Amino acid sequence: MNVYDSERIAEVLSPLGFVPWDTTDGADMVILNTCHIREKAAEKVYSELGRLRKQKEAMAADGRRMVLAVTGCVAQAEGEEVLKRAPYVDMVFGPQTYHRLPQMVAEATRASGQQLDTDFPEESKFDALPQDRTVDGATAFLAIQEGCDKFCTYCVVPYTRGAEYSRPAGAVLSEARNLVQAGALEITFLGQNVNNYHGEASDGSTWSLARLIREAAEIDGLERLRFTTSYPAEVDDDLIAAHKDVAKLMPYLHLPVQAGSDRVLKAMNRNHSVDEYRALVDKLRIARPDLALSSDFIVGFPGETDADFRATLKLIEDVTFIQAYSFKYSPRPGTPAALMDLQIDEAVKTERLAELQAVLNAQTLAFNAACVGKTLPVLLDRTGKKPGQLIGRSPYMQAVVVNTSEPLMNRIVDVTITSAGPNSLLGTLEKDNQKACA
Ligand code: 5AD
Ligand code: SF4
Repeated sequence: MNVYDSERIAEVLSPLGFVPWDTTDGADMVILNTCHIREKAAEKVYSELGRLRKQKEAMAADGRRMVLAVTGCVAQAEGEEVLKRAPYVDMVFGPQTYHRLPQMVAEATRASGQQLDTDFPEESKFDALPQDRTVDGATAFLAIQEGCDKFCTYCVVPYTRGAEYSRPAGAVLSEARNLVQAGALEITFLGQNVNNYHGEASDGSTWSLARLIREAAEIDGLERLRFTTSYPAEVDDDLIAAHKDVAKLMPYLHLPVQAGSDRVLKAMNRNHSVDEYRALVDKLRIARPDLALSSDFIVGFPGETDADFRATLKLIEDVTFIQAYSFKYSPRPGTPAALMDLQIDEAVKTERLAELQAVLNAQTLAFNAACVGKTLPVLLDRTGKKPGQLIGRSPYMQAVVVNTSEPLMNRIVDVTITSAGPNSLLGTLEKDNQKACA
């Protein structure tokens, strides 16, 4: 979501003459788009600000001004503190107000006082953002839903991103068409609770995510659809059926389970049991037998016993995930879990995380190894480290490297996988692809 927001921020600033740059040194404006989900991410902001302060001072010595801004969830959650701890910061604005940037920038360049805008405004920022989209490469993000009402007891998102909001279906489809027009072959629908999308359609009806996917799949030129992140307790039958019916919907689903013990899930307020999660995965795999799963895990949640942790390992072994993000529980200010008894020792968290990651990494490697000899459609969208290398994504989000001198960038090509590592696959182009572009 932050990547999407950064792209949109760049689009808002473009009419003012700003262009994205690849270094902060000497920049007229630097915007830190921040994450508050875990303490480590939030603390990074202050060390980064310290580094930028030096660059800002060096520019000032040269008679130039660097406007320094902080946005994202750290800005939302602790805007006042950012301004206090880093008085050289010019602007702090939350993720819901960046459509007001032109006005904020004008004020910041005119006056020298600090500005803080962490409202949850009445107007939707999406209505005020430019309609034209730019696409870097052939894959694009599209936010369809924002905010969260689930209040998992460990999580800051409901406080920083606000209440759940679904964009109208027409606006989403029109942005999707604009993205395809600008070169996108693949679109990923984004939302903190994307599967709870309920967007208003022009006839007054409400569209579910499944309906939106079916309609978006009709867009000519769009080849691949994905969505993230889903909340398991709210995956409905229609969405499961979409995985069977919609060929453009990729067979890869990020479905965070967090933990494999009912006791912990309850304390997390996740609203489903371990068995319900297993049953959901079974249904999804019946609908789409080649569906690959990824997930998020938290270890060391308050009160997590060794038996609870073993139950998480057991769930992982039974379900199998081809990819996963796993974290040590990080107490966040203002969340209920931060005040729970039985906080787990850091050393225990470290140990559990290492054990969990070893199992998950082995599953990733096994899945990658099983792809050797198979031919996969790969959307090539980056150059590799070595000359003549292109890198792309398989339907399962694996990075696939090919050696080719053909101009195949931003195309979907068939690649036969020849070897596999933990982080990427290597493959050779099927002859037909080469003929097609000759
Ligand atoms: N500590 C550790 N991990 C967290 N996540 C969210 N809040 C916390 C926290 N306080 C993880 C969850 C979520 C992912 C985006 O971040 O696994 O799915
Ligand atoms: Fe946070 Fe996701 Fe839970 Fe919402 S559903 S509170 S975003 S972990």
